[in-house]
Amino acid sequence: MSHRVAVIPGDGIGIEVTREAVRVLEAVAPRLRTPLALEHLDWGAERWLRDGTTLPAGAAAELARAQHAILFGALGDPRVPDQVHARDILLGLRFQLDLYINLRPVRLLDDRLTPLKGKTTADIDLVVFRENTEGLYAGVGGNFKRDTPDEVAINEDLNTRKGVERILRAAFDCARIRRKKLTMSDKANAMPQAHGLWQRAWKAVARDYPDVQTDHLYIDVAAMELVRAPERFDVIVTSNMFGDILTDLGAAIVGGLGLAASGNIHPGRCSLFEPVHGSAPDIAGRGIANPLGAISSAALMLRHLGEDAAAEAIDAAVARAVRGERTTRDLGGKLTTEACGKAVADDVAQAA
Ligand code: NAD
Ligand code: IPM
Ligand code: MN
Repeated sequence: MSHRVAVIPGDGIGIEVTREAVRVLEAVAPRLRTPLALEHLDWGAERWLRDGTTLPAGAAAELARAQHAILFGALGDPRVPDQVHARDILLGLRFQLDLYINLRPVRLLDDRLTPLKGKTTADIDLVVFRENTEGLYAGVGGNFKRDTPDEVAINEDLNTRKGVERILRAAFDCARIRRKKLTMSDKANAMPQAHGLWQRAWKAVARDYPDVQTDHLYIDVAAMELVRAPERFDVIVTSNMFGDILTDLGAAIVGGLGLAASGNIHPGRCSLFEPVHGSAPDIAGRGIANPLGAISSAALMLRHLGEDAAAEAIDAAVARAVRGERTTRDLGGKLTTEACGKAVADDVAQAA
């Protein structure tokens, strides 16, 4: 028996940071209850430029059958028109594997990393539950009279009762084992049909969680509050695109995109773990990308695989690297991507 993991480094810094995440997984191997079996897949811009492959036909079903998890870097390359490969592969896997929870922790590890005046590690520790299989990302829409002055362009915001309810339940379940506080955020004032559904589903689901205190903020106010008073949040649940935007903001208040981790999860099924950031063409190939978001995503993956002790060991080593300034330059350190990854790997190995 082994935990079977497909590794998809992707493009740009995705390749650089995934290498370090794998290094840390190898360092934590002695603590695993079940060994990892990694299989590398070369999907990304190079492959697309070579043979036009994005997500091969049947690949998602094969991953669901043969793998327990996917460790993912990032996709995006200026040479690929329209980023068709990124959409096909990343959104393709989210949708086809039905990874309906996009779990994005926002936790300040060191006071000096937040740009928010007067806030400390005691003030910023929350989790965003981003709906991950529908909303404005569903690809429902089209272009009419394209490239003419009369062009019409439509992307529908698709919300299903089932889809909304299951992300709400996942978020309430998480709040129950955290500080028992859940904020639902939508834009029901401007979108009464789609987000009226969110309101009704939220009120109904909340009745099953009387022990969880719950409130509602429109997304614009939620963004403001995340900056003004992040301590008021424990679990935030929101739609696909609002969650995308809110979690880059969340990353910014705890040290930047280089630190932010995420899980694309369907409980009990093959799920995908990746840093929140993209392929960062502006810094790719220079050895300066921060690998800690990718490394923390590997820890989230281990939790999904039931390896809580090993995940905890990685989280602790990441926190020590941040506090000890064994970091890349975006966090004020002097290390290269590789040196930062090695520092965490060595720490994990020694702490064993
Ligand atoms: P990005 O996240 O790649 O970069 C935004 C900024 O943050 C850049 O200045 C970059 O240098 C910096 N940054 C990001 N990660 C960093 C790290 N680990 N260490 C240090 N600095 C880091 O966003 P973008 O520039 O808008 O997108 C670039 C490409 O990546 C696009 O093609 C986009 O579609 C794609 N993208 C992919 C994913 C994904 O695969 N999950 C996520 C976001 C963006
Ligand atoms: C993310 C990214 C993706 C998203 C893009 C690359 C489609 O920004 O994972 O946050 O919007 O979900
Ligand atoms: Mn994003």
